[in-house]
Formats: sequence, structure tokens, C-alpha cells
Amino acid sequence: MSDIINHEVMDYIRNLLPPRDELFLEMEREAKEKIIPIVEPEIGHFLYWLAKTKGSSRVLEIGTAMGYSTLWLAKAVMPQGGKITTIEINRPRYEMASKYFSRAGVEKEINLVFGDAREILFDLPGPYDFIFLDAAKGKYVEFLSKCIDILEPGGLLIAEDVFMRGMVITGDIDKRRNKTAMLRLRDYLKIVSSHPQLNTVVIPIGDGLAISTKT
Ligand SMILES: C[S@@+](CC[C@H](N)C(=O)[O-])C[C@H]1O[C@@H](n2cnc3c(N)ncnc32)[C@H](O)[C@@H]1O
Repeated sequence: MSDIINHEVMDYIRNLLPPRDELFLEMEREAKEKIIPIVEPEIGHFLYWLAKTKGSSRVLEIGTAMGYSTLWLAKAVMPQGGKITTIEINRPRYEMASKYFSRAGVEKEINLVFGDAREILFDLPGPYDFIFLDAAKGKYVEFLSKCIDILEPGGLLIAEDVFMRGMVITGDIDKRRNKTAMLRLRDYLKIVSSHPQLNTVVIPIGDGLAISTKT
């Protein structure tokens, strides 16, 4: 959950969302119970809206967890014949996502890959028109050049949690081990904000999103 947005604003926006399917609600409950980090419903809805509005059809997600954001993206791209590849390094989460994709009836359209995106990314052919980067925050810079390579011109690269619960903004880290990730996220934001191949906006929804388009 985000700490950077006023909770009243967040609740207000959340209450405006259309009712969610029971499967989404079940995933939200399970994520809370098992402390699995997933996007907030309003971010899921934003991803859905963005992919649908852009007409995205070749989606790559780095960091599946239990497949919650993947299913929001699937809802947007599948009616228009789109496909999603999503990568998860944690075996139990990968298996959880696989079960949810079957229950949602979308397992054939989603290429769920188990492993480390740092290796798998190099074998992916691309191009993609929508890349959602939501894995280890300290690795975003490492993923960046490959993401740019496989993103088609005009495509979107969306990085999630870029404020790291406000730590990136204030520099006040909650644990020593978060310092490197916080500094690397700052680097990521600086790089994407001035990269010659990218046009980037950073917006304060959820825990901060950096949305880049490839020029
Ligand atoms: C924030 S969660 C993803 C949440 C998911 N996108 C959602 O909103 O439903 C981040 C996930 O990235 C995975 N991850 C971290 N580093 C990774 C890597 N190098 N390759 C693949 N997955 C990774 C973690 O295991 C974790 O499940």
C-alpha cells in the first residue's frame, strides 16, 4: 500500500471504480492475508484503462507475483486479440499465478515464464508495445536498456512503485538494506526523465508510476 497519497483521496478514487469481479476481490484478500505485494485496485484499473486506450496488444510484465496486475492487463488486451508475457522468479507465486490464470480462462493467452527476468529478458524476441516493470526496485536500471531495445516506437514502459513508499522523495529509509534500492530508483527516474529515446512522466498515483514512451 502506498503512503504517499492522502488516504481520503485514495479511498475516494477507489470508491469510484466500477465493481470488480469476484476473482479480483479474492486475489486482493489472498494478497493481504499472505502479504504478497500487488498493485492497488486503482492502479490495476489505470493499467487496464491505459492498455485499452492505447490499443496495446503485445504486453510484457516483469514481476507477476500472483497475477493480479496481469489479469487487469488481460482484461484490456484480450478482447482485441492481445497476448501477454509475464515473468516471475518466485516458484510459489508463479504457481499461484498459473492457477489464477486457469480460473480466469486466460492461460492460453498468457505466456507465464518462471525465472529471473535478468536472464529471460535477453531471450525474448519482442517487440512489445506495453512493458510493465514491477519487479525488484533496485534492478530497474539494470532492466532499462533491454526494455528500451524490445519496446517498439510509441510503446509504453511503465515502472511501478518508483517512490518506494516515499523513501525516494525524502531519503528517509525505513531499513538500511533499502538504501541501495532507494538510490537506484532515484537513478532510474533521472535516467528515464532525460533519456534521448524516452518521453517520461512521473505521476503520484499508487506508490508512484514512471510512464515512458519510446520516441
Ligand atoms: C510487486 S510484485 C509484482 C506484483 C504484480 N505485478 C501485481 O501487481 O499483481 C514483484 C514481483 O517481482 C518478482 N521479481 C523480483 N525480481 C525478479 C526478477 N529478477 N525476475 C522475475 N521476477 C522478479 C518478485 O518475486 C515479486 O513477486
